[in-house]
Amino acid sequence: MATRVAMSQPVAAQTKPNFTPIISQAHSLDINYDDFTPAKHLAFKEMPKVHTMKELGFPETIGVSPIAVSEPFRLFTEEAVMRMRREVLSPEVFENCQYSSNLAHCYLRGFANKYAPFVYDVWKNPETLAIVSKIAGIDLVPEMDLEIAHINISVKTEEEKREELEAAAERANYEADEGITGCPWEDDKPIVGWHTDSYPFVCVTMLSDCADMIGGETALRTGNGDIMKGCAVVLQGRYIEHEALRTLGKTERITMVTSFRPRDPLQKDEAVTDVCVCSTVLTTVRPISNINELYNQFAEYRLQILEERIRMQLREIRDLSAAGRRVATKKLKRFFEEQECFLAHMNREMVDDEDVVVGNIHQEHIISKNSSQSRKRQRLA
Ligand SMILES: [Fe+2]
Repeated sequence: MATRVAMSQPVAAQTKPNFTPIISQAHSLDINYDDFTPAKHLAFKEMPKVHTMKELGFPETIGVSPIAVSEPFRLFTEEAVMRMRREVLSPEVFENCQYSSNLAHCYLRGFANKYAPFVYDVWKNPETLAIVSKIAGIDLVPEMDLEIAHINISVKTEEEKREELEAAAERANYEADEGITGCPWEDDKPIVGWHTDSYPFVCVTMLSDCADMIGGETALRTGNGDIMKGCAVVLQGRYIEHEALRTLGKTERITMVTSFRPRDPLQKDEAVTDVCVCSTVLTTVRPISNINELYNQFAEYRLQILEERIRMQLREIRDLSAAGRRVATKKLKRFFEEQECFLAHMNREMVDDEDVVVGNIHQEHIISKNSSQSRKRQRLA
C-alpha cells in the first residue's frame, strides 16, 4: 500500500535556484515594466502548419478538436520572454512554488496569480487566447489559474554539458564512419518520458535560448506508432503521447506549459470509443500541486459548467412548457445521464487529501515505447 502523506506542499528543502540562468543579460537590457500589451509583446505573424488527429492516425471520435499539434511558431517578443523569465526565476517563486516528482527534479507551479502578474496577464489576454484557439481549432480558455505557466526546469553544470557534447561528437563520428544514419542523441534519456497530459490542450513555450541548442523539443507518438520530432507548441496533449527530449550544448532547458480546456460549457467531457477517455483528469498534477488550490479551482470551474448547462436545460423546459409542449423524456434522461457522468468523474478525480502521495506521479500514466498494452491501461486510468 502506498505511503500516505497529508498534503501536497512545495519542496521546501530546495528553496534556492542552484544554477545560473544562461540568459542573464535580462538584467542589463533596458526592460520596461509596463503591463502586458499584445501589440508590443506578441510576435505572432502567421498561422503555423498544423497536423490533424486524422493525419496522425487517431480515430475521429478522439479529442476535443480535429487538430492534433502545430509546428513551432514565434509567439512572444524577446522582451516579453525576458519579462516572463524574470518573474518565473524569482526567489519568491523558487521559495514557495517549487515541486519535484519521480519523473522530474524541478517544476514551478501555481505562482502566476501570486508572484507573476505579467505571466498571468499574458495567458488571460483575449488576443493570446485567440491565437492559441485559432491554432487549436477550438475556442479555448486556461484550464484553471493553477495551470497557467507550469514550468519545467532541466539544468546541467558546464562540466556535464561539455562531457555530453564530447560523447555526442564521438558517437556521431563513429556512426558516420559506420554509415549509420540518425540523430546521435536520440536514444538519450528524455527529460520527461512518454506520457499524455491531464488536460485537453497545452501551449509549450521555450524560455531558454534555442540558439546552438541540439534537441530539447517535444517528440510525439502518432496513432500509427511513428515518432515525430520538432513540432510542439500547441498540442492536444491529453490524447497524444509525447516526451520532452534532452538538450545538448546548453546548460538549461526551461519550458512554460499552459494548459487549456474548451470555453463552451456544452463541449462533451469525454470521447467514447472502445474506452471512455475523459478530456480532463488530475493524474499527472495531483501529486505536484497544492491540493487545496487544485481541488478548489477544479470544482469551481466544473460547477460553473454544470450551472450553465442546467440553466440552458431549465430554459428549454420552461419555454416548451410555456408553449404548451413538453420536452422528450429520452432527451431529458440523456441530459441527466451526461451530468451524472460529469459529476461522478469529477468526484473520482478528487482523491482524498490523505491518499495523495506527494511527488509520485502514477506509473500507469507513463507509456513505454511501442506498448499498446500500457497505452490502453493509461487510457483507463
Ligand atoms: Fe506533457
